[in-house]
Amino acid sequence: MKKTLIKGTGRYVPSRVVKNDDLAQLMDTSDEWIRQRTGIEERHWVPEEGGVGSSDLGLEASKIAIKRAGWTPEDIDFIIFGTLSPDIYFPGSAFFLQHKLGLETTPALDIRQQCTGFVYGLTIADAFIRSGYANKILFVGAEVHSTGLDLSTRGRDVAVIFGDGAGAVCLEGVETDEPVGVLSSVLHAQGEFAEILKIDFPSHKQHPIIDEKMIREGRHYPFMDGRLVFKTAVRKLPQVTYAALEKARLTVDDIDLFIPHQANLRINQAFAKSMKLPEEKVFNNIQKYGNTTAASIPIALDEAIEKQRIKDGSTVIFLALGSGLTWGAVVYRFYISPERR
Ligand code: UT7
Repeated sequence: MKKTLIKGTGRYVPSRVVKNDDLAQLMDTSDEWIRQRTGIEERHWVPEEGGVGSSDLGLEASKIAIKRAGWTPEDIDFIIFGTLSPDIYFPGSAFFLQHKLGLETTPALDIRQQCTGFVYGLTIADAFIRSGYANKILFVGAEVHSTGLDLSTRGRDVAVIFGDGAGAVCLEGVETDEPVGVLSSVLHAQGEFAEILKIDFPSHKQHPIIDEKMIREGRHYPFMDGRLVFKTAVRKLPQVTYAALEKARLTVDDIDLFIPHQANLRINQAFAKSMKLPEEKVFNNIQKYGNTTAASIPIALDEAIEKQRIKDGSTVIFLALGSGLTWGAVVYRFYISPERR
């Protein structure tokens, strides 16, 4: 049977480090507030002068993942790009990335799933691979948030959270009867809550799609009902984790590492508490990166592999909740090559 395996991962963040104290120079906030409420200590932002898009960050992460997979760009059958901060309004960043990779007509798809970009993207890739439609798929999650934030006190609840960055994963179909690869996926969406985390403008519901009044009111900046998103995440993440485990016929004890989206350290700590997990079973790196949305899980995965928190045969679960609302979880088991069994 064909299984979807992770063959290579890569991450890239811009070199500009923005500390909490740097933000306190721009708005009424403090290092203490940000650390206490979110766990974040610093984040990486693209250069202030601009000119760097999510496809540029995605390109750097992709180059690393492709090399580690032992692929060349020409091997890629399909590109999936998760971002809420595309280079331009349309077309999506997948096309810019495809061209930057030197590819000519490789199919490329943008998905707009925000924080659940990786769990949705991995599920789509797995379905494409198992159906035989494609065998080598590059998933990239990349965000340039910093250019779109309200850096005044008005926008502080959102501005202090987000970081820029990219994570890439090479996924390949391999024939094996071993219980490896994507073992289960559970995805959800609830449009009833679409407006609790959103950017209103530009909007095709009006002409022109954005005007000076909208800009004055800051409606081109993200809006978030943070408390509601927080409460919903704390409730739904354990539910979807249990559902994905049940589908894979596994229990909490079978999971070697939980790799949640990095939205807020307190959300992940509440998740661990509710699942009765020891701290070392949940991977967190929001302290260094902030919330990088679609990039957060692939960045975390790449770091977890680098830190040897994942080994051959490890079973992991990826989980996320975010704007849409969307939430989901994917159970994945790493392959052990026959010679190492
Ligand atoms: O990525 C996926 C989706 N996003 C999330 O999952 C984020 C979920 N939500 C959160 O992480 C949290 O709700 C936040 C970090 C956004 C906010 O933390 P909170 O503990 O929920 O704070 P709050 O919104 O209840 O605000 C508490 C106080 C307020 O002041 P008052 O009304 O008590 O006087 C805010 O105005 O903190 C104030 N505040 C700040 N103070 C200093 C809000 N943002 C800041 C700030 N610095 N940056």
